[in-house]
Amino acid sequence: MAQDVANGLAAVEKLLRSSVESEDAFVTEASKHLIEAGGKRFRTLMLLLAAQFGDPSAPGVVPGAVVIELTHLGSLYHDDVMDEAPVRRGSPSANARWDNTVAILTGDYLFAQASDLLADLGPDLIRIQAQTFSRLVQGQIRETVGPRGDEDPVAHYISVLADKTGSLIAASGRFGALLSGAPTDVEERLSRACEAIGVAWQLGDDLLDVASTSTESGKTPGTDLREGIRTLPVLYALASAPSSRLAELLSGPVAESDLEEALTLLRAHPAMRQARAELDAWVDRARTDISGLPDIPAKNAFLALCDYVAERSG
Ligand code: IPE
Ligand code: IPE
Ligand code: MG
Ligand code: MG
Repeated sequence: MAQDVANGLAAVEKLLRSSVESEDAFVTEASKHLIEAGGKRFRTLMLLLAAQFGDPSAPGVVPGAVVIELTHLGSLYHDDVMDEAPVRRGSPSANARWDNTVAILTGDYLFAQASDLLADLGPDLIRIQAQTFSRLVQGQIRETVGPRGDEDPVAHYISVLADKTGSLIAASGRFGALLSGAPTDVEERLSRACEAIGVAWQLGDDLLDVASTSTESGKTPGTDLREGIRTLPVLYALASAPSSRLAELLSGPVAESDLEEALTLLRAHPAMRQARAELDAWVDRARTDISGLPDIPAKNAFLALCDYVAERSG
């Protein structure tokens, strides 16, 4: 299994780079900027592990992973514009290195290249990808708009995570199963487990935005606070002490001059532990689904991945 996955990762890397080659040298350069900056290829890894439940050498597996990785990448180009993020994968974001127009259009180009590869994988995968992307975008929109007046903010937050991040990670598991010809019940189980891992992953990301230093995450800490995005630790802190200094700081987008104080207070607040408990609950949901998978080495690899997701932001 390990050798299969290592070969798969190398093949994905190669196709990912060649898929963004354009006759226009600048388009190629702008597209390769974040590919070459790094990235964990976490979604590719999940897809390749899922493919172990069928025939991992089936011809669609590697292009399928590249479709997912390009979709993810395009969403990062756009996300950094929306979040006004200066750093991504330890390098300047595309909007910082060039400008918003270049970042937006390069993201669009990456989506187009993904569609081109996807066309060879057939209508079922095209539809799954379309529905996934629709959820991702709607999650981003609902995050921007915030909860409706009658909506519970925590329920809103979790559903945003499931849509903006869980959807594509679920699709990674489903693509791996489908493209390798794994049984339908395995496909459903993998898709559910991967969606729960995706929610936990994003929860961890939101905790790291508070807890980490930029050298660890390759991003700028406090970006969510600066943008006024109410992530779970913020929601819990606001609910537990509505008239505290921290609540005052977190009531809207946090000014640059208040950021260090807000981060210090939030890091020490019990809301962080509470949010971590929610993350653990999502990882446990994933573990429950994974435990019903056939006993092959990839099952243990998925369980190890769950441990990693649980510990990443700890
Ligand atoms: C970043 O995803 C965006 C989120 C959904 C949190 P990753 O944490 O997978 O980022 P890369 O691909 O490794 O840079
Ligand atoms: C990224 O969400 C999710 C998508 C790109 C769809 P965030 O804005 O929370 O993630 P980071 O912290 O910038 O990676
Ligand atoms: Mg962001
Ligand atoms: Mg964002």
